Amino acid sequence: MSDDARVPTAILISGRGSNMVALLAAARDPDYPARIVLVLSNRPDAGGLSLAREAGIPTAVVDHAAYPDRESFDAALDARLREAGVELVVLAGFMRILTEGFVRAWEGRMINIHPSLLPAFRGTRTHERALAAGVAEHGCTVHHVVPELDAGPTIAQARVPVLPGDTPETLAERVLAEEHTLYPRALADVALALRDARRGQRM
Ligand code: GAR
Repeated sequence: MSDDARVPTAILISGRGSNMVALLAAARDPDYPARIVLVLSNRPDAGGLSLAREAGIPTAVVDHAAYPDRESFDAALDARLREAGVELVVLAGFMRILTEGFVRAWEGRMINIHPSLLPAFRGTRTHERALAAGVAEHGCTVHHVVPELDAGPTIAQARVPVLPGDTPETLAERVLAEEHTLYPRALADVALALRDARRGQRM
């Protein structure tokens, strides 16, 4: 696939970046429909940044602590993404709530992975809450981002059983393994759909 046909994509992280690593690995295939042009973190100390650099991917930091409010942080984020020619934004463990204005500007072109079977367990501490609720199945969801937190249309889900003796850590590990195969597949679907829409507009 020519580089032009691959959707220029940014991955946004806040931490260790294991989903980012899985996405970068998938995108190394020249036929993968998304091309990762930028890895951006809101935290200068995010472990994933050095992994991205090692993989030869341009990185950027937009440190939320340097901005007085969410609006100015989101404006800086938006400017950095546009400067890099990004058309698709992938949140991979990006732990900042985004303003409605930013989300609307990228709606349909921004996706997230969440460690639960949405609509169950929006928000944080999902594994702990799933265990407390006594559910038999847990998992992860890739969804479009809308202004309401973890409420956008589902793109794909993967399920895992909850096993006797599970702790939040063992359950998180089982879910994370699924995240690493689900997210690259879901991103490919979204990038292909965007590319087809782009072609349709040109005709
Ligand atoms: C992942 O489990 C992801 O689903 C979760 O954070 C972890 C990031 O891990 N995301 C959220 O909770 C978003 N609300 P990673 O940095 O190793 O990819």
